[in-house]
Amino acid sequence: MDMQNAPALPAVTRREDYHPPEWMVPEVELDFDLDPAKTRVRATLRVERNGAHREPLKLDGAGQQPVRVLVDGVAVNNWRLEGERLVVPLTGEAHTVETEVEIEPEKNTQLMGLYASGGILCTQCEAEGFRRITYFPDRPDVLATYRVRMTADKARFPVLLANGDPVAQGEADNGRHWAEWHDPFPKPSYLFALVAGDLQANRDEFVTQSGRTVQLGIWVREADLPRTDHALHALKVSMAWDERVYGREYDLDVFNIVAVDDFNFGAMENKGLNIFNSRYILADPDTATDYDYDAIAAVVAHEYFHNWSGNRVTCRDWFQLSLKEGFTVFRDQGFSADQGSPAVNRIEGVRGLRAAQFPEDAGPLAHPVRPESYIEISNFYTATIYNKGAELIRMMSIILGPQKFRAACDLYFQRFDGTAATCEDFVRCMEEAGGVDLSQFRLWYAQAGTPRVQASVEHEGGRATLRLAQHVPPTPGQPVKEPMVIPLKVKLFGAETAKPLTDERLVLLKDPAETVVFDGVVERPVLSINRGFSAPVIIESDRSAADLGFLSANDDDPFARYEAMQQLMLDTLVADAVEGDRSGHEAVVAAVANTLDDAERDPAFVAEAVLLPSESFIGDQLSVVDPEAVFRAREGLRAALGGKLEERWRGLYDGEREPYAYTPRAKGLRRLRNVALGYIAASGAGDADKLAFTQFEAADNMTDRMGALTTLASGASDLREAALDIFYNRYRDNALVLDKWFQTQALSSRDDTAAQVAELARHPDFTLANPNRARSLVGAFGVNQRAFNGASGEGYRFLAEQLIALDKLNPQTAAKLLPPLGRWRRFDAGRAKLMRAELERIVATPGLSKDLFEQASKSLE
Ligand code: ARG
Ligand code: ZN
Repeated sequence: MDMQNAPALPAVTRREDYHPPEWMVPEVELDFDLDPAKTRVRATLRVERNGAHREPLKLDGAGQQPVRVLVDGVAVNNWRLEGERLVVPLTGEAHTVETEVEIEPEKNTQLMGLYASGGILCTQCEAEGFRRITYFPDRPDVLATYRVRMTADKARFPVLLANGDPVAQGEADNGRHWAEWHDPFPKPSYLFALVAGDLQANRDEFVTQSGRTVQLGIWVREADLPRTDHALHALKVSMAWDERVYGREYDLDVFNIVAVDDFNFGAMENKGLNIFNSRYILADPDTATDYDYDAIAAVVAHEYFHNWSGNRVTCRDWFQLSLKEGFTVFRDQGFSADQGSPAVNRIEGVRGLRAAQFPEDAGPLAHPVRPESYIEISNFYTATIYNKGAELIRMMSIILGPQKFRAACDLYFQRFDGTAATCEDFVRCMEEAGGVDLSQFRLWYAQAGTPRVQASVEHEGGRATLRLAQHVPPTPGQPVKEPMVIPLKVKLFGAETAKPLTDERLVLLKDPAETVVFDGVVERPVLSINRGFSAPVIIESDRSAADLGFLSANDDDPFARYEAMQQLMLDTLVADAVEGDRSGHEAVVAAVANTLDDAERDPAFVAEAVLLPSESFIGDQLSVVDPEAVFRAREGLRAALGGKLEERWRGLYDGEREPYAYTPRAKGLRRLRNVALGYIAASGAGDADKLAFTQFEAADNMTDRMGALTTLASGASDLREAALDIFYNRYRDNALVLDKWFQTQALSSRDDTAAQVAELARHPDFTLANPNRARSLVGAFGVNQRAFNGASGEGYRFLAEQLIALDKLNPQTAAKLLPPLGRWRRFDAGRAKLMRAELERIVATPGLSKDLFEQASKSLE
């Protein structure tokens, strides 16, 4: 297997080395003789020399050998292999080049290229998987139209799908049949897909704004059909939303989605044939939580939106990945915000950014939104490319305002349709249509690290002066940073009247330090800043607990109320973790009590607002993370909130309920009730486990069942084992639900979690071969700060062992799970040494993939 033979020091690809392709390939014909054991692939490429040069044709390949090569219909033997590349000398300006290879899908455990998942043959080509299928210039700036013919056993593979529209089908010898598909839109090879399997479709139609009818199909195994309605509905809503909000219409006559169980990521936007991890398709109330339902709609929307932001306009090279991913995340966030509560949606987005992107930006794997180099591009499908990238688009939309932003998007789609573009192309469209100068803004693409902004307000004689200062911390390879342009939405509120003293103002902080003056401020102002999280920065302000409590009650923007509460909680928790000072508890209890008054009106928001920051986010505030102290501080505040407000929690728990429905209000009530259950348990109330167990048994939906199980899983009662056993026995045949069973235990706050996780790794249902299962245990454990960072180092050893084993099967997924070990700089010397030892062990492993090598070696630097 190619990945296993990676050289000791794998090659680095650099952005500055970009050169246009030497040969273009306007047309491709692929002929697949499909069989899980041995699939024969014949590729016919029409190639055209690009510019004046005498270079031979160089085709990427990985893991296969050419069976034969033909040029203009004649077999040739003057080709050679340079590494894994096939080099074919060509004399003219245009030729037809044919290759034939054999591949073994059922042996493909990396899940890149053509592979088998539960009897289904499917593909994953982004970023560089197409070269594992056939020889091709496997780079995103080579755009071709594809004609694909598949032949396969009709009984095992009755359904044959590929990109574009179906053209023809028929019977073949020996119980085989064939189908032919044609995709008229030129696309890069990473968007190629085919699927062969025994599948059924949940079908529907969508009529586009110009009146064309599109046939929709969600393809799954027959038994899963009843769980596809939510995804199908989300697809139709997404298609209508993209027409209404971005003016983007779908362009083929069919749109198919296939769900497979073994998938490295969430889903893939292959033209006209999206392939999904089944966890982002399958849902019914009994097996999927509200969170799962939301995530399914968001991912279905995301992949659908890629049809324009990614497929019609693609990326010139992989350094531009955020051009499609950042923009598409921004688009799916806009979609999700429109489906329910925008404030709650923004809270979830910011929470995700703080959980994944801020730590990445502050650690050894920090990289700019447009990176300068990589060893393995799969390692750059990161929170920075996706989520910080989305924040960059959001900032530009704020600077331009909605009308100009829409005009700029229109210009971008129109100007670059059918081409492979760059981040720079996008920014220039924003500048032209927006009439703004984004020179300094471009630093957001080039500089890594989360900017810090200090903010304080002085008030004297009717004038408030806001003093701002910014600092961008050093990151690997970028010791010194230039000041960024930071769009900050600010507003002042009167401390006495609790009324707004100003309108919301957009401040563009450009210099290292600036002051902003507000006149006519007649009472003491309280500062509300970075409203709506207008910039992905860390605000350092000297606002008192009283002012934060005030804002959590009186700010007129719910997101800002949430932020004030989080800051108040964070300040309190840090004071406890660092110096054992719990004097802040009272202010938090008062602020939470006050927020609970809104529970009737807006349960979804209140449920979010009263949650404490995560242990790892608290840890991120400390100069040295003390996982035990953080845990104790957080548990202490949870107990105080639970105990002091016990009556309130019980009132909410026994209060308003609705029959199960996936509506914003019913969702909000479920969420709040489960949060209340958690606080009742935190209060130490003797009946908490019984309450949870009763809920667990009575639940008619997975949200309530999981809410109860999560509380029980961190508890000590016998009911814990009972609930886990009942859950296991009920769902042992449903892989997606069994993932939840593993995950809940890996996230438990019990003292013995590390030992339990090690035991679960030996459970007969645990396997590293399925990425979802690996993530549900190994991935979840890695983010359980206290359990993973036990002082003995057993957590570190466990992770390293799992990663080394997983790397042999699936390097991409292994590399994704490494970052918790790279946090060693944030911990005490003892833990740091133990973590480094494991990283060194990984790097020294013979036959390590370049994926894991890159992550581990960079984490040691
Ligand atoms: N483009 C896909 C998405 O964002 C993700 C594909 C990631 N695949 C990979 N091998 N890195 O929807
Ligand atoms: Zn994407």
